[in-house]
Amino acid sequence: MKRACLLVCVVLLGASVPRAAAPTITIDASTPAGKVSPLLYGLMTEEINHAYDGGLYAELIQNRAFLDDAASPAHWTAVQGDGAAAAIALALDKAEPLNGTIPTSLRVEVTQASTGHAAGVANEGYWGIPVKPDTRYRASFYAKSAPGATGPITAAIQSEDGKTTYASGRVSGLTQTWKQYEVTLSTANVAPTAKARFVLTVDRPGTLWLSLVSLFPPTYKNQANGFRPDLLQMLIDMRPKFLRFPGGNYLEGDQIADRFEWKKTLGPLAERPGHMAPWTYRSSDGLGLYEFLLWAENMTAEPILAVYAGYSLKGAYVKPGPGLEPYVQDALDEIEYVTGPPTSKWGSLRARAGHPAPFKLTYVEVGNEDFFDRSGSYDQRFAQFNEAIKARYPNLQVISTVGFEHPENQRVRSVTPDVVDEHYYRTVDAFLKASRGQYDKYDRKGPKIFVGEWGAYETPFEPWNPRSRGEAPTPNLRAAIGDAAWMTEMERNSDIVVMHCYAPLLVNVTPGARQWRPNLIGYDALRVYGSPSYHAIKLFATHLGDEILKASATDTDVLVSVTRDSRSRTLYVKLVNPGSAAAPVQLDIAGGALRPTATALTLAGDPQDTNSIDAPERVVPKSSQVTGVKAGFVYTVPANGIVVLQLGLQ
Ligand code: AHR
Repeated sequence: MKRACLLVCVVLLGASVPRAAAPTITIDASTPAGKVSPLLYGLMTEEINHAYDGGLYAELIQNRAFLDDAASPAHWTAVQGDGAAAAIALALDKAEPLNGTIPTSLRVEVTQASTGHAAGVANEGYWGIPVKPDTRYRASFYAKSAPGATGPITAAIQSEDGKTTYASGRVSGLTQTWKQYEVTLSTANVAPTAKARFVLTVDRPGTLWLSLVSLFPPTYKNQANGFRPDLLQMLIDMRPKFLRFPGGNYLEGDQIADRFEWKKTLGPLAERPGHMAPWTYRSSDGLGLYEFLLWAENMTAEPILAVYAGYSLKGAYVKPGPGLEPYVQDALDEIEYVTGPPTSKWGSLRARAGHPAPFKLTYVEVGNEDFFDRSGSYDQRFAQFNEAIKARYPNLQVISTVGFEHPENQRVRSVTPDVVDEHYYRTVDAFLKASRGQYDKYDRKGPKIFVGEWGAYETPFEPWNPRSRGEAPTPNLRAAIGDAAWMTEMERNSDIVVMHCYAPLLVNVTPGARQWRPNLIGYDALRVYGSPSYHAIKLFATHLGDEILKASATDTDVLVSVTRDSRSRTLYVKLVNPGSAAAPVQLDIAGGALRPTATALTLAGDPQDTNSIDAPERVVPKSSQVTGVKAGFVYTVPANGIVVLQLGLQ
């Protein structure tokens, strides 16, 4: 009763009662509190969710070297033209290897075929071959034939049922010796589709062998063996400062033999054997060390190179000491490949590949999540790598891995690493809590921090639980709120958190293609989209400046980080409201008069909303003008909202 009266009275008196002052966010723009790390923000990558094969690496043929499955030509089928009386036998043939690196070829025996009744093989691609209008594809393959069969071979991109041919071309003159053939396939003004396959057929009987069958669409800047342009552009748009590669678990492999052996990822594709990767499928290694470096360069990002440190995921490890030396040497060689002059042994290979200029390298990471090594050998393994790297490359900063969630318990102790790599996969609530001062407590004299993997979960952390497979491959807005809150914490502390990156970065959203959720950017054979978290990171990364300003919030759940561009004198005020009600905040900005209008970039809405391959732009930032800006103005942060306010100092 009393409560009801109180409510009514307040409503009736509402107009005359002075409004409670909005909670305050105090910003000191007079003196910067620190420098923004020049390496905010960045990207982390590995082969997971068909990130490269079936993703960024533009190759369209799945199992191009016939090595994916030892027993059958996976992703390949026999085809015969309409009404053909053709019989085809397909078999993996170890007796006719292309070379020592690719020990298996595909034997195609066509017993009957004739003009108009062709027979041969089809590849399904990575969940379809993307057909686009007015596009030139470069097909290539190695072939040889049994005596009497000289071709010609027709290469074509066809509809799945073979009834429509979108593009085709021919090669002839097959011999009994392996030779590489190339043909350009051009589409006309066709409607885009991914319900297509790639076929190689003959129209007369004979036996032939195929190896390393490849089909490339146009790549980013037409680079040979290059990248899918739409996907790479999404990454470039984030303006990343670094690329952490090659993993992640992908660096380590399940067994030592399955590690990322960088030397086997170089040179002509026919010299790359590929390898079994930890995320349940083989990697072609078409995207090898050289391509990682080019990828970083295409984004004007710096490589953060992770070197294999002698531990693999199923528990095998190399004891520190003489047995570890070859692995240490391998890491030194790898650094030379990246940074050495063209006159050096490994630098010369890079130069021969097309890049005489050394790449800039500041950080090298030793291993990945080596706290999983229960033998306790990481401390000594790290020390051995660290000593060798520092001796040869004194200017390099060496990063050690460190335990999940309780980094203080699982640190390298025998030496002090320059940087430690913390990983956080947390629920939104856990990130909101941590975003209220986790890094304020860190010792500024201690090692710098690299948060080399992080990502917020709408649900408890079960990224590889089969039950989560039915869920969206990318996170919703609620998760993006957790991500943005965490970014305010890292940005405010970027004097010590020198780098950080979300993981995983990429996911092919076609059912069956992914191993993890959630992920930042989704795609299928034809389309690509950014999750709300992608947009949040892009907003933060592209509105940064170089100075950290001190900002503190009282009596509000709104999280804040403020930076400034010292040249343009623009303030970037990042506000994150995790609540379900709009949150007015009074911005008390001391240290300079403000321009009266500002821009607000806002990502807000229903927290359960998300983007998808069919609805790619449901949650995207909106830009608006803010007027009446002055010291102490009140700005209302929308419910479930992430805002970047760009304020000008006069
Ligand atoms: O990002 C997915 C995986 O999570 C990484 O491969 C690994 O480092 C971490 O455990």
